[in-house]
Amino acid sequence: MKNITLPGTEENVSEFCLGSMMFGGRCNFSEAEKILGTAIEKGVNFVDTAPMYCDGYTEEILGKILKGKREKFFIATKVHKGLDSNNITESLNESLNRLQTDYVDLFLIHWPAVGMDPLEIMSALNTLVQQGKTRYIGCCNFPAWLFAHLNKIAERNGLAKFINNQVTYNIIQRGIEIEILPQAIAENIAITTYGPLAMGVLSGKYRLGSPVPVDSRGASSSPIVTWLSVFGESIESFIQLAEEKNIHPVQLAIAWVRSSAAVSSPIVGVSSLSQFETSIKAFDYNMSDVERKTISDIFNTEVKEEGYQLFPGLKYNFPRLRRNQNLLASN
Ligand SMILES: NC(=O)c1ccc[n+]([C@@H]2O[C@H](COP(=O)([O-])OP(=O)(O)OC[C@H]3O[C@@H](n4cnc5c(N)ncnc54)[C@H](OP(=O)(O)O)[C@@H]3O)[C@@H](O)[C@H]2O)c1
Repeated sequence: MKNITLPGTEENVSEFCLGSMMFGGRCNFSEAEKILGTAIEKGVNFVDTAPMYCDGYTEEILGKILKGKREKFFIATKVHKGLDSNNITESLNESLNRLQTDYVDLFLIHWPAVGMDPLEIMSALNTLVQQGKTRYIGCCNFPAWLFAHLNKIAERNGLAKFINNQVTYNIIQRGIEIEILPQAIAENIAITTYGPLAMGVLSGKYRLGSPVPVDSRGASSSPIVTWLSVFGESIESFIQLAEEKNIHPVQLAIAWVRSSAAVSSPIVGVSSLSQFETSIKAFDYNMSDVERKTISDIFNTEVKEEGYQLFPGLKYNFPRLRRNQNLLASN
C-alpha cells in the first residue's frame, strides 16, 4: 500500500482510508476484526469513524479491536453534538472513551450548522489540540468559503487550523470539483473523499432491470434508488467497460477517484473482508487521463456551473443548509 504525506502535516498515512461506518451494523464485530487485521497486514493504517455511526457502537468496536495496536493507526473521528464549545469538548471526550485511547489523530466537525460561531469553534478545537486529545483538526462537508473563513479566524487568533476537508466524491457526485478541489491544491489542504462507490451504486451489484439486492444498502437507501433510476444505463456501460478491462467495477470506481490530483485519500467503505480485499486492489491501478475521460463521459456528470449539484450531501441530508447565507452567527 502506497503511503502519502497528509497535506498540511508531516504524517505518513496509507492512501487507502478505511471507512468504518458499516462496523456494528451490516458488518459484525468478528468481520470488522478480520478487516482491521488484514488492513494492518496490507499496510492500511488510516481509519475513519464517527460517533454517529451505530450511535457510538462503531467507535466501541474500533476501541476493542485496536487495543494494544493503537500506535499502528491514524484515527479520524468527528464531532457528534452541537458546535458550541462544551459540546465539541464533550463529544471528543466521549469518543476517546469509546475508542479506549487518550488521543485521536484527526478530529473533524461533521457538518456545518446554522448559527456557527467560528471563534468559539476554533478556540475549542485549539484547546483540544493543546491538551493532546487530538493531533490535527479538520471538517467535513464544508464549502470552500466556509473552510477558508474558519481558518482565517484561527490564523488571526493564533489557533490551530483545519488541515482536512472530508467530502463526498465519485463519478456521479462531482460538485467538489468547482471550488473545493482547486482550493485544496492552492492551499495544500488534505482532501479525504467518502462514497467512492456512491454507496455501492458503482460496485456492479445493482443492474438495470434487476431488483435491488435485498441484502444491500440499496434496499433501504433513497439516494441509491434515485441514482439507479437516473444513471441505470450509464451504470450498465460502466460495468461493461470494467468487464472489457478485466477489472472489478469497484476498482475502476475507486481508481477514478484516486486519479484526481487533489484527492489525498479516498475513504473506502466496506461491509465485509471480501469487499475490503476487492477494494484494496484499486490502489495498484493507476488510471490514465484518457481512461478517466472515457469513464467521465459515460456518466456526463461533470458540474458545468457553480449552482448545479454543488454539495450534494447538503442537498440530500440538510436541504436547509444548502447555500444558506446565515450559517455564521457573526454575520
Ligand atoms: N463525513 C461524512 O459526512 C461521511 C458521510 C458518509 C460516509 N463517510 C465515511 O466514508 C466511508 C465510506 O462511505 P460509503 O460507505 O458511503 O462509501 P462507498 O465506498 O461509496 O460505499 C460502500 C458500500 O459499497 C458496497 N461495496 C463495497 N465494496 C464492495 C464490493 N467489493 N462488492 C459489492 N459491494 C461493495 C458496500 O455496500 P453493501 O453494504 O450494500 O454491501 C459498502 O457498504 C464511511 O465508512 C465513513 O467512514 C463520511
